[in-house]
Amino acid sequence: MRKYLTSLFVFFSFSLFAQQKTQITLHPDKADRAIPKEIYGQFAEHLGTCIYGGIWVGEDSPIPNKNGYRTDVLNALKELKVPVIRWPGGCFADEYHWMDGIGPRENRPTMVNTNWGGTIEDNSFGTHEFLNFCELVGAEPYISGNVGSGTVEEMAKWVEYMTSDGNSPMANLRRENGRDKPWKVKYFGVGNESWGCGGNMRPEFYADLYRQYQTYCRNYGDNRLYKVASGASDYDYNWTEVLMKNAARHMHGLSVHYYTVKGWSGSKGSATHFTEDDFYWTMGKALEIEHVIQKHIEIMDKYDPQKRVGLLMDEWGTWWDEEPGTVRGHLYQQNALRDAFVASLTFDIFHKYTDRLSMANIAQMVNVLQAMILTNDKGEMVLTPTYHVFNMYKVHQDATYLPMNIQTEKMDVRDDRAVPVVSATASKDKTGAIHISLSNVDARGSREVTIELPDMKNKSVKGEILTSANLTDHNTFENPNKVQVTSFNGISKTNNGLVVKLPAKSIVTLKIG
Ligand code: AHR
Repeated sequence: MRKYLTSLFVFFSFSLFAQQKTQITLHPDKADRAIPKEIYGQFAEHLGTCIYGGIWVGEDSPIPNKNGYRTDVLNALKELKVPVIRWPGGCFADEYHWMDGIGPRENRPTMVNTNWGGTIEDNSFGTHEFLNFCELVGAEPYISGNVGSGTVEEMAKWVEYMTSDGNSPMANLRRENGRDKPWKVKYFGVGNESWGCGGNMRPEFYADLYRQYQTYCRNYGDNRLYKVASGASDYDYNWTEVLMKNAARHMHGLSVHYYTVKGWSGSKGSATHFTEDDFYWTMGKALEIEHVIQKHIEIMDKYDPQKRVGLLMDEWGTWWDEEPGTVRGHLYQQNALRDAFVASLTFDIFHKYTDRLSMANIAQMVNVLQAMILTNDKGEMVLTPTYHVFNMYKVHQDATYLPMNIQTEKMDVRDDRAVPVVSATASKDKTGAIHISLSNVDARGSREVTIELPDMKNKSVKGEILTSANLTDHNTFENPNKVQVTSFNGISKTNNGLVVKLPAKSIVTLKIG
């Protein structure tokens, strides 16, 4: 009953506001930084079919591949301009022993992937396969080291193996395994979720372990590590407090994880069967990441007012029930237009905090949680609505962030959350072009947005739009283009800017100039 009443309330309050306009004013004069491309990072864990089947099929597979990597996936990722990929976990990282994943594949030992369905891991995708994959995609690697069940020595040797150019034992072992020159590895995570699957530690204990482990992660040659301490889960501000107090000077970055999830026990809800009310709740929960970021930053500012230590949101995204009929523990979920909104709203927030937020990695890249890409073993691939948002938003990578004022009505949704109907962000790229991304979360009503912009007369404006008939629409192997990007015509120039007519439930990116 409550659900029904809330839906009615949301619907009627929206109808009342249907004619209300949204007003955006850009402040290029206040532009003082670029949006680091690393905000658009990915996460690829040994989990379900993310790596095996999704990225890696091996050289002998009938599925078209380049050196064992699926060609279709590789090309789709190149198109996205993926800046950085976090690997091998997640929870898997704290059970991963890197030496099992080097040398001739037929000699590599197997292990049980205890976190993710008890699947047998054959280690055929290891350090070489991952780092060569990053080179092919054009992404920086972000390695997660094992603190939970690994040793200091093991971690230290992994860094030496990957990055030493000298006549050192690990560099020579790498050469024996076919790679002469070291890879460039900048980002190195010292443990993952050490408060949970990474060892169930207390923050005081982990802070000391972090200090110890990171000491032996050396810089070889001109490789400079950016060391990341395992951070808090969403609302655990004490973890950040203790880590910053005790270990800040030994870290370059501190992570935090935030999932748009209904809870950790019981059903998380279906990815594709949900009501409008569920949709608005999801928007509210996704937007709450802003408050979480602010609180962690507030604590970091106390210990590091110079903002030397970066905040890395190295796991984020939606978490729904696994698709019926799929392997339990493999976290395979579909991805609807709703997920696309979680991505666009989240990026709009991330852009605001890049004076501290230095990276973000969506969970996960292929076939797991809020994936960019879904694949099957017939060699088919689907690009999800989330993929399309990443593609539309890639224009903001490394562009100058343009602060804005946005006046738009808010709606109240379940759990006392207020959701602005229109969300937006803007940036200016190196050619001088301005890109503005706009999301209208009203499921039923269009919105007129007025954007103040000087000197529009001689400028060209183009737009693209992502929308679909239903919020639950998603792409399948049978119908891969149900939700897709098309060109957008709802723009008119005025004397002092633009008027944009955003259809209901739509995401738009404009290019001006
Ligand atoms: O992304 C799935 C899992 O979620 C990761 O392995 C873990 O770090 C988090 O709890």
